Amino acid sequence: MFDKRIIMFFFLIFWLFWIPNVALADKNKENLKGNEECLKCHGAVGLKMEWEGVNISLYVDSGKYRDSMHGTNKCQSCHPGFNSYPHPNVKSRQQFLQEINNRCKNCHDYILKTFKGSVHDRKDVYCFSCHTAHTIFRGTDPRASTYRNNIVKTCSQCHKGNVLKSYQESFHGKAVALGSKTAATCTDCHGKHNIFTKTDSRSLTNPANVPNTCARCHVFPRKNFARGAEHFVKTSTGNGKVVYYTKKFFVWLTISVVTLTLIHIEMELYRRYKKIREQKALEVTGGESYDR
Ligand code: HEC
Ligand code: HEC
Ligand code: HEC
Ligand code: HEC
Ligand code: HEC
Ligand code: HEC
Ligand code: HEC
Repeated sequence: MFDKRIIMFFFLIFWLFWIPNVALADKNKENLKGNEECLKCHGAVGLKMEWEGVNISLYVDSGKYRDSMHGTNKCQSCHPGFNSYPHPNVKSRQQFLQEINNRCKNCHDYILKTFKGSVHDRKDVYCFSCHTAHTIFRGTDPRASTYRNNIVKTCSQCHKGNVLKSYQESFHGKAVALGSKTAATCTDCHGKHNIFTKTDSRSLTNPANVPNTCARCHVFPRKNFARGAEHFVKTSTGNGKVVYYTKKFFVWLTISVVTLTLIHIEMELYRRYKKIREQKALEVTGGESYDR
């Protein structure tokens, strides 16, 4: 009788814990099994298609995808309707991308509190413009497009020209390029989801807020530290004028000092050479040498 009760007890425990676990595990496996089906084709490096004359790669790096923050998401969580092959017809690329973007916003709706109305809240910038599609990692992971030292690359997909050039020439830009994890990168001064034009009072780069933005890292002993333009290139007109002419001055100063020094050394060598020649000539003729 006693044995029977124990057996019944374990039987009950078994069903209580095993069954839901099986169900959960199966659901997860089902996700991953479904994804494996997709990756049979999309895990191939060369797979691509043409859209309005442009080649689009259809390759998904399966190793990185599984490691990514969405590695256990079904592919359909971002690609609804793509359940099997042949695929549903995609009418416009814009719409295809916009639909995925809405998926990001649905799951991460708290981001919208800061993102709404920002400069990047527009039709041609997507969440995945900065985050990538299938290789999203935490910002602390060096593989993430939003990792500190990858930020410049991420923003400069769209912000090239003087903004990028001036940053790369700046103290911060050079330090970050050399691997610094403390010098300012784009998002340290501009924010991430809360980027506004500098005339907007919410902008971290609004003249009224710039001192505080710099003060996150720099303690201010000097009054004018945060004044002046941030992005300037060294040209003879515009914001970079003073730096341009200062640099020009020092470059020419260096060139003339080096040239004059070389001339000076040459002349000195020539003088010594002449002296030795004269001495030799005197020795041959038996005359007396004297110092001039
Ligand atoms: C038999 C190979 C194959 C399988 C399996 C497959 N695909 Fe595709 N996929 C393609 C090809 C080829 C294209 C190019 C467009 C087309 O033919 O529809 C494509 C295109 C796509 C596109 C881009 C559509 C566009 O027009 O931009 C997405 C997204 C996609 N597949 C997702 C998936 C998902 C999710 C799965 C898993 C359910 C999957 N695919 C399974 C071959 C496959
Ligand atoms: C977190 C959301 C997300 C998940 C999950 C996801 N994708 Fe995508 N996928 C995207 C985004 C975003 C794009 C558009 C990228 C672009 O073109 O900029 C995309 C595009 C694609 C494309 C077309 C390539 C292109 O650039 O248009 C294919 C093929 C594709 N995904 C396959 C898959 C497969 C297979 C899976 C599952 C293993 C999957 N995706 C899971 C977000 C996702
Ligand atoms: C079905 C819901 C879902 C969709 C759709 C989705 N995500 Fe996620 N995302 C998640 C979950 C769950 C996590 C993991 C959160 C965690 O563990 O902190 C995550 C993590 C992330 C992270 C890392 C968060 C961190 O704490 O660093 C980023 C960034 C991200 N997602 C961006 C996106 C983008 C961009 C898209 C659209 C291309 C997208 N997500 C679509 C559910 C989703
Ligand atoms: C201009 C580039 C940019 C755009 C556009 C962007 N993000 Fe981000 N996002 C970032 C950066 C930079 C981080 C900081 C990464 C870190 O340090 O963890 C971040 C962090 C995140 C995180 C994780 C950390 C957190 O703050 O909770 C999530 C989730 C996220 N973004 C989702 C989204 C979604 C959803 C969208 C679209 C509505 C979006 N992002 C648009 C740049 C961007
Ligand atoms: C040390 C702080 C700092 C860093 C780092 C920084 N910026 Fe700026 N940025 C500013 C300030 C301040 C302004 C507004 C004043 C100005 O234009 O000089 C600005 C202006 C801008 C503007 C607007 C330009 C315009 O014409 O009004 C863009 C775009 C921009 N930055 C992008 C970037 C990008 C991309 C990076 C990284 C490659 C970056 N910034 C790095 C501080 C910074
Ligand atoms: C997909 C392209 C894209 C990416 C990636 C992107 N931006 Fe932008 N950004 C834009 C567009 C488009 C505008 C609006 C330009 C305008 O209004 O002239 C803008 C505007 C801005 C402005 C305001 C410029 C002004 O005139 O006031 C700043 C600052 C800025 N971006 C910084 C960044 C930073 C920092 C990153 C990286 C974290 C980034 N952006 C990533 C496309 C992008
Ligand atoms: C994320 C932190 C961070 C932010 C924000 C930041 N800086 Fe820096 N900055 C640094 C670091 C780190 C250095 C290198 C200091 C060193 O090693 O001497 C540096 C160096 C400098 C230098 C050259 C060296 C010096 O100390 O004089 C100047 C000038 C400078 N920053 C100006 C600014 C201004 C102006 C702002 C605001 C628009 C700003 N920084 C915002 C971190 C930051």
